[in-house]
Amino acid sequence: MEYREFGNTGIKVSVMGFGCGDVGGLIVRGTVQDRLEAVQRALDLGITYFDTAALYGRGQSEINLGAALRQLRAAPVVGTKVRLQLEDLTDLKGGVFKSVENSLARLGRDHVHLIQLHNSIGSARVAGQTVLTPEDAFEVQDAFTTLQTQGKVSAWGLTAVGETEPLHTIINSGRFNTAQSPYNLLNPSQSGAIPSGYPYQDYNDLVGAASSKGMGIIAIRVLAAGALSATAERHELASQSPPPIGSGANLVDDVAVAQKFSFLWEEGYTDGAVEAAIRFVITNRGVSTALVGLSSMEQLEYAAAAAEKGPLPGEAMERLQAIWASLAD
Ligand SMILES: NC(=O)c1ccc[n+]([C@@H]2O[C@H](COP(=O)([O-])OP(=O)(O)OC[C@H]3O[C@@H](n4cnc5c(N)ncnc54)[C@H](OP(=O)(O)O)[C@@H]3O)[C@@H](O)[C@H]2O)c1
Repeated sequence: MEYREFGNTGIKVSVMGFGCGDVGGLIVRGTVQDRLEAVQRALDLGITYFDTAALYGRGQSEINLGAALRQLRAAPVVGTKVRLQLEDLTDLKGGVFKSVENSLARLGRDHVHLIQLHNSIGSARVAGQTVLTPEDAFEVQDAFTTLQTQGKVSAWGLTAVGETEPLHTIINSGRFNTAQSPYNLLNPSQSGAIPSGYPYQDYNDLVGAASSKGMGIIAIRVLAAGALSATAERHELASQSPPPIGSGANLVDDVAVAQKFSFLWEEGYTDGAVEAAIRFVITNRGVSTALVGLSSMEQLEYAAAAAEKGPLPGEAMERLQAIWASLAD
């Protein structure tokens, strides 16, 4: 397993990270034995970053991950998140402190390496929604520094989901150590220019901007919530139809677009669609770790083997330009 700098945190992380959310579902809905075996096997494969959130399984992900790590006496890098709720919007810092206390209690530990803001970012607040502005994010970051002083967190990040311009405002401030970036074959705008008329959100080289600020990038939606397996069937533990982030209107549409990248596996650049999707993301050196949401041990083995193969060949990367251009037509 390759290890990369986690931005300027002083931590290194494995290039593949373990997603403990609802989409893959193994840590939220798997059996105790399956969860234990998967976490042990991930550690054996060299995976050192585990990503959870207060929201995943309504706290169950933190409970299950914490229990597995304690039982295995393992201490990988753990990141969790704060999703501020409507009732927190009048006291952002209070909401952060309450959420992190609850997360630490569920995880059964007194410290996490990484705390991340989970709310979507916009240029203005929206009545009845939990969208936060850059000013709000800076207030949250103040709370994160207090938690660092208290020894409860080492570093902090944001989820780079929402409107592109305010996301760049936060990134350019240099006040966050990491960003979770929805980055995959369907939407390459995180890493440079996309053809004009491209159908999905333009993140305007967010990974490049974040890297230039010394931030670590945690790629999310590497498999577009499963669509980049190029099949519409979902595992029984997986979310059956998670809403896409930064790609099409729904999972079925994303599967259809995923099939347009078939030259990658049909012409021998990769063993299959999932391998192609993972290797595409880690080709970008700005990505510290590519999270994969997992439903089974087989998926874990396959994804880790894919990550081991490293970046896509340059020729395959060149040929992708034509596919992206065709999507913009
Ligand atoms: N901060 C945020 O707002 C945010 C948002 C999304 C995700 N995340 C993080 O990212 C992690 C990953 O989740 P994601 O939503 O980004 O999902 P993803 O990794 O893009 O997709 C996960 C899905 O891919 C499929 N898959 C995985 N390995 C496979 C394999 N070897 N072969 C075939 N299919 C495979 C599984 O679907 P099937 O089993 O159904 O085929 C699984 O449900 C989450 O756990 C979370 O930690 C964070």
